[in-house]
Amino acid sequence: MKHIDIAKLYKTKEDFIDTKVTVCGWVRTSRDSKNMAFLELNDGTCLKHLQIVLDKSALNQIQDGILDLGAALKIEGILVKSQNGDSIEVNAEKIIILGRCPLDYPLQKKRHGLDYLRTIPHLRLRTNTFNAMLRIRDAVSIAIHEYFSANNYVWVHTPILTGSDCEGAGEVFRVTTHAWDAKFKNEDAYSKSDFFAKQAGLTVSGQLEGEMAAMALGKIYTFGPTFRAEKSNTTRHAAEFWMIEPEIAFAELEDILEVAEELIKYIIGAVLDKCETEIKLFDAHFENGLIDKLRGVLSSDFEVLTYTKAIDLLKKAKGIEFKFPIEWGLDLQTEHERYITEVIFKKPVFVTDYPMGIKSFYMKQNADGKTVAATDLLLPGIGEIIGGSQREDDYDKLLKAIKDRGMNAEDYKEYLELRKFGSCPHGGFGLGLERILLYITGIGNIRDVQLFPRTVGYMA
Ligand code: 4AD
Ligand code: MG
Repeated sequence: MKHIDIAKLYKTKEDFIDTKVTVCGWVRTSRDSKNMAFLELNDGTCLKHLQIVLDKSALNQIQDGILDLGAALKIEGILVKSQNGDSIEVNAEKIIILGRCPLDYPLQKKRHGLDYLRTIPHLRLRTNTFNAMLRIRDAVSIAIHEYFSANNYVWVHTPILTGSDCEGAGEVFRVTTHAWDAKFKNEDAYSKSDFFAKQAGLTVSGQLEGEMAAMALGKIYTFGPTFRAEKSNTTRHAAEFWMIEPEIAFAELEDILEVAEELIKYIIGAVLDKCETEIKLFDAHFENGLIDKLRGVLSSDFEVLTYTKAIDLLKKAKGIEFKFPIEWGLDLQTEHERYITEVIFKKPVFVTDYPMGIKSFYMKQNADGKTVAATDLLLPGIGEIIGGSQREDDYDKLLKAIKDRGMNAEDYKEYLELRKFGSCPHGGFGLGLERILLYITGIGNIRDVQLFPRTVGYMA
């Protein structure tokens, strides 16, 4: 269907003024009067609508349904400068209804709340909010690829079907082709009869395979869907989300922090640069001061703080009652993380060197025998958006960590072999795409930065 994108008309309007154009789109608003009618058309290619002017005498008559909110139209007409200002509009000459939209259309002209929109997941994508969010999601994804590509990383595609639980947190979705049956003597016999002849699941992280690729290519990153059967029903957790995991050979923890800070700044810079209209919408309707907040990140130096120091600061915190206890050895809860980044430092904070017992088996053990070279990046308003570490590159120490956790060393044979053949200091991190989108848009719920969210008890 030959037509011109509305985005293109706005970008290169001088090329089209006083010429005949064909546009397609959906009616967003309409206004009828005695001799004239007006409608605002949106084709999804940009947030801006295009005004269409209908001269009733010239058009003979206006067919029923043309002015209905949500109707899909094809319009031929002359593009002209609008009378009030330097915008553009189309004087319609021919209008075809491609699809009617009856009055019970669930999206009306008013601004609907996100809670209501979640009940119509197939239609909410048509709102300005979702159009803007999805455009920013796209811009963030492209910026991530640009950053890594410019810095000698190779994008590798790690498997989605895996046999190991990278994080060891027992949050793996099982993948099977047949149900349990009493004929299987035990779990092992059941798994052996299955498609892969062993237990399989959806990946919770591409890190382990990413490390193998980094030991070959030096610098890699993964960028793909990640699955966790996490029962936390919060505004920050999804069962399916996208994660970006760079893995870098010949790197120590401080190098990992440097890359993480640079990447976050690159992403935010790119969005401010390329998504001005979209960001303005979120600044106006979701988080007042959003643009200043994002600019502030670009000019700030992220704080670096050890876990031990963080515990000290939290213990001294005045005027706040935390729900969860603060004690060396216990994990930081979101309320603690947010206090550190929002109240104490008011900027992004890397917390480093966590107690060994609360972190994953693969993290580099520090000389103190108690902590590991791990980091979480905390952002105001969100909490953790990145988790990463230097990796344990010593064969014996890694084997012991696996055994100490009651994991089966046989399952990690190949991963352990990386530590046998040319082992080197290396590390990386995982950035949650949805978490950074929450920060960049000011949207409060992870369900609203995804096309179709999947969370515990909910699959739209
Ligand atoms: O801290 P996590 O669990 O780290 C890892 O998976 C490591 N293997 C990463 C690495 O070192 N290569 O997860 C990393 C990030 C979190 O900081 C968070 O942003 C995001 O992934 N994330 C989630 N996002 C949405 N919903 C969930 N359920 C998430 N779980 C983790
Ligand atoms: Mg984490």
